[in-house]
Amino acid sequence: MQRPLALSSEDFRALAHSLSDFTADYLERLPTLRSYPEHIRGVAIQQLFSGDIPQQGLGSAAFDLLPEIFENSRPASPRFFGYVFGSGEPIAALGQFASAVLHQNATAWRSGPSANAIERTVVRWLASAIGCEGFSGSLTLGGSSANLMGLCMAREAKAPANQSGVRGGVLYCSTEAHMSNTKAAALLGLGHDSVRLIPVDDAFRMRAEALREAVRHDLSAGLKPVAVVASAGTTATGSIDPIREIAALCREHNLWLHIDGAFGALASLAIPEAFDGIDLADSISLDPHKWLYQPTGCGCLLYRDPADARRAFSHSGDYARSLSTDPIEGFAFFEESIELSRPFRALALWLSLRYFGLRAFQQSISDDLHLAQVLASFIDAEPRLERLAPVALSAVCFRYIGKSGGAGSSDLDDLNRRILDRVIRRGRVYLSNATIHGHFSLRACIVNHRTTEPDVHAIVTEVLAAADELQG
Ligand SMILES: Cc1ncc(COP(=O)(O)O)c(C=O)c1O
Repeated sequence: MQRPLALSSEDFRALAHSLSDFTADYLERLPTLRSYPEHIRGVAIQQLFSGDIPQQGLGSAAFDLLPEIFENSRPASPRFFGYVFGSGEPIAALGQFASAVLHQNATAWRSGPSANAIERTVVRWLASAIGCEGFSGSLTLGGSSANLMGLCMAREAKAPANQSGVRGGVLYCSTEAHMSNTKAAALLGLGHDSVRLIPVDDAFRMRAEALREAVRHDLSAGLKPVAVVASAGTTATGSIDPIREIAALCREHNLWLHIDGAFGALASLAIPEAFDGIDLADSISLDPHKWLYQPTGCGCLLYRDPADARRAFSHSGDYARSLSTDPIEGFAFFEESIELSRPFRALALWLSLRYFGLRAFQQSISDDLHLAQVLASFIDAEPRLERLAPVALSAVCFRYIGKSGGAGSSDLDDLNRRILDRVIRRGRVYLSNATIHGHFSLRACIVNHRTTEPDVHAIVTEVLAAADELQG
């Protein structure tokens, strides 16, 4: 019987060859591409891809629209500085391809022996690379899901809810913390109102004494403090909260310490001294798809004690429970994670790390940190620009103020908004934005293994050119 989805090995080989040629050509052209395609418009793209589902297969013509998809995408170019978004190094892409062909379920040893073993190895590598030797963990979809899981473990450890439902609990993070933490509070049934946003100092770091005061206040009101989220790299400015001080307070009050290191924790490969106390955390999120330049979809949650993960996530049904009691062959990630089916994400990261070696990643992160300082010095030397925040990691926040610097602050907000739009449309660098002390800020973030000094210099020339254009 010929099954309808059968594919001959000749056809697979031919398609794979042409796909590898196509993607290799694309990578060759990448440095020359505009940082944002000129022609991208919502309706046009929607129309391009809005055809009906084909009733009859198109065969190899199914791939015909691939050039349009690539054309209408924002390239991972050396001049992409938006958000906190890694640059996607291609060895990892080959890993993803191999992983999809192999099609394992890495969730348990018995459903994917190598995949399961390699994920455990990669997690161990990551823990030891950031100075948290002995931590366990698993790969996640990204930083948001790692934060959700970390805070779920916190809630279950300090104010158990899995059995009888949520009975309250208070979380603490700084006013600069990432939105995924408040989202997690909502998803966990604690609610936004039980998140205390602690004020920050001039360097955008959580003020530990304000945290202490907030905890004291909640305790005297009869509430149940559960966890503190310390940011190791806030999204806007990259500031790192005083982890050691916060950890001491957590210990004093029996609070869970979760570190949101989705942006910054991996920078401890290059500047470990900036992350003093990271190993005191109960759980840490970090994002290989940011600062290990992995393709999107690779985060990680590390935790000190796997029993905490099992308390939160182990709800095994008989259909999934392992028959083996062997610590290796009986191991299942689903006992310690939200996910049951689990892709073989670790293969991409494992291949990248083996291909280049940890030192190359350390150097690349160092280069990114250095380039951010170079950009800050270009900005500081240019009187028409004003830097709006210290550069703790690789995010640089600044704005155009013009020659006199005399425009009103709402005029400057509006002007910088228009400058950002113009810079993106000019297509030579891609920036995003942040709000700093209530002001609209241009923001360049360098988590890009392709960027070099001329690329960061282009940020300054492009912002000035856009401002000149707008001001006639
Ligand atoms: C500090 C911080 N936490 C969490 C996240 C969310 O990570 P992800 O986009 O991988 O879900 C980000 C994203 O930029 C971040 O900067």
